[in-house]
Amino acid sequence: MTAEPRPAKSRQTLRFVIVALAAAGATVLVMLLNRNVAERRQEAKQTSLDLVRLDETVVDPAQWGKNFPRQHDAYLRTAERFSTKYGGAGSEGFAKSRLEDDPRLVTIFDGYAFAIDFNQRQGHAYMLDDQRKTKRVTQRKQTGACLHCHSSNTVAYRELGLKHGAPGKLDDPFLTDNAQKQLYAGFEASCKMPYDEATKLVSHPVTCIDCHDPQNMALRITKPGLLDGIDALARSEDPVPHLPTVEKWRKGDRKVRYDPNREATRQEMRSLVCAQCHVEYYCGAKATLFFPWGKGLKAEQIEAVYAEYKFADGTPFSDWKHKRTGADVYKAQHPEFELWSQGVHARSGVSCADCHMPYVREGAIKISDHHVKSPLLDVARACQVCHRFPEQEIQARVATIQDRTHHLMSRAEDALVQLIGELEAAKQAGAAEAKLQPVWALQRKAQWRLDFVNAENSMGFHAPQEAARILGEAIDYARQGQLALRDAK
Ligand code: HEC
Ligand code: HEC
Ligand code: HEC
Ligand code: HEC
Ligand code: HEC
Repeated sequence: MTAEPRPAKSRQTLRFVIVALAAAGATVLVMLLNRNVAERRQEAKQTSLDLVRLDETVVDPAQWGKNFPRQHDAYLRTAERFSTKYGGAGSEGFAKSRLEDDPRLVTIFDGYAFAIDFNQRQGHAYMLDDQRKTKRVTQRKQTGACLHCHSSNTVAYRELGLKHGAPGKLDDPFLTDNAQKQLYAGFEASCKMPYDEATKLVSHPVTCIDCHDPQNMALRITKPGLLDGIDALARSEDPVPHLPTVEKWRKGDRKVRYDPNREATRQEMRSLVCAQCHVEYYCGAKATLFFPWGKGLKAEQIEAVYAEYKFADGTPFSDWKHKRTGADVYKAQHPEFELWSQGVHARSGVSCADCHMPYVREGAIKISDHHVKSPLLDVARACQVCHRFPEQEIQARVATIQDRTHHLMSRAEDALVQLIGELEAAKQAGAAEAKLQPVWALQRKAQWRLDFVNAENSMGFHAPQEAARILGEAIDYARQGQLALRDAK
């Protein structure tokens, strides 16, 4: 009874102490938070350090790195080696040979440089070295056109252009008429030079200035191949709902050409900077390098451009004559942009950079991961921002798509190798050229389609159904070829 009030009083005291402590704690927390926020604001301001004056002549990424150390550090990490089930070049320290992985490719590329050396891709840091060292360059004659996608050549092209009489000065802003004339004059001149000579004009793999405006760091397109290619695409009738500004340009008077540096949205640029290189192209001694998009981006539209194309000397287009069968055939190269264009991600506005250069948070700063790599190494940032599934589930979905593509591709390769064997036998048995002609056309079609998916580097992921459609056609054309040979007997 007497002890009644005491617990009440001590309860009150206790409550007071707790409230006081909580308030003090909260104050400290708020103070800490404020300091943290202030620090982070400061950090955010320091994304650019402004230590070096960047202009149109600065090629060395280390100079850019003084102002943007985070992007530069990550950029350097493209030298790290990795492998996933179908991606990367392995961590053993050397490039994995795609010919050793799959000797059927030696039969398929017979008579062409790809039959002597063809490796898995590696990180951007290696692009110039790998090109200088490949047997496709050391044992075959190549031109300076190869450098379009393997080096920082924005400045090298302009310097060469000036030497070839283009107007203006090297520090003219990139988008001025003079600068563009320099760029194009140098590009065209370099395509005519022997590789060994042209490669002396460059000294870095792709660098900051190839994707960024030094004045304000905005994305920009610097490679003539894409500037011409996207204009040709804009003039075609192929629907491109994933490139809304191209669709918009088509509705205008079309007096000036479609120029991504003037028209494209930021989100489009986040893919177009990659499409400067990750695309199908023609690059050889007989014509200036070009992207064959005048009828659209699908495999058969590109095939149709080649089928109509004549070199300056009047001969019809082909990449090489197949050594065993005598067919004139085409070679596809890494059509990542083209295949991505047919997929649901492009359709939904998801860019290359969204998956391959996802945002990383460093303190208060959100930056783009310049360690360009397989998104399967960073599913949390590359995929889970949109797909709220566990990592294991996302990896499994990709593996299912890739394994299916791989199996179907293997069947297409078997079918093509069998056709090549039968064609070779028919030719050796003295079959008339008139009989072989239609079968050569079927080999060309089958081979082009198979290679389109094989040379593309996502093993079907960028557009699974489109990859399967193309492989289905490849198998059909190869089998049609075999049937035609039997009918011809
Ligand atoms: C929705 C996400 C996504 C988008 C968008 C995307 N990719 Fe990919 N990409 C992938 C995945 C997943 C792979 C398979 C990686 C692997 O097998 O390790 C891949 C593979 C690649 C590879 C081979 C990578 C390697 O490590 O071997 C290249 C090159 C590539 N993509 C380029 C592009 C380009 C260029 C674009 C835009 C035109 C693009 N990707 C758009 C997800 C994406
Ligand atoms: C200047 C041309 C060029 C540009 C621009 C370019 N790439 Fe590449 N990329 C290459 C070349 C060449 C390789 C292969 C290098 C090698 O194997 O030596 C490559 C390799 C890759 C790889 C494989 C990496 C690895 O470690 O295996 C990925 C992924 C990739 N690029 C994605 C992209 C994306 C995404 C973009 C746009 C943000 C882009 N690239 C822009 C030329 C380019
Ligand atoms: C339109 C851009 C472009 C042009 C032009 C180009 N490449 Fe590449 N190259 C790439 C891209 C993108 C990759 C990475 C994807 C891959 O390996 O499929 C690559 C990969 C390579 C590789 C590493 C993988 C392999 O195939 O062994 C070598 C070597 C190479 N190229 C040599 C050459 C040579 C030689 C030429 C000139 C005949 C050339 N490239 C012209 C874009 C280009
Ligand atoms: C293959 C093209 C490519 C190259 C090469 C490249 N970047 Fe970027 N960079 C991008 C893309 C894509 C973005 C995202 C831009 C956007 O969303 O507007 C970006 C964004 C940036 C940004 C803005 C902040 C951020 O991180 O999003 C800075 C700063 C930057 N890059 C610096 C550099 C520096 C420095 C180098 C050279 C060491 C470099 N970049 C090389 C493609 C490239
Ligand atoms: C910016 C958002 C975004 C990012 C990042 C993204 N996706 Fe998607 N993904 C989508 C959208 C949108 C669809 C279309 C389906 C839908 O509307 O839900 C889709 C569809 C898919 C599909 C089914 C369609 C198909 O092609 O078969 C798969 C599988 C997929 N995503 C995997 C991935 C993987 C793996 C990554 C990371 C490498 C990734 N996505 C990154 C938005 C995204």
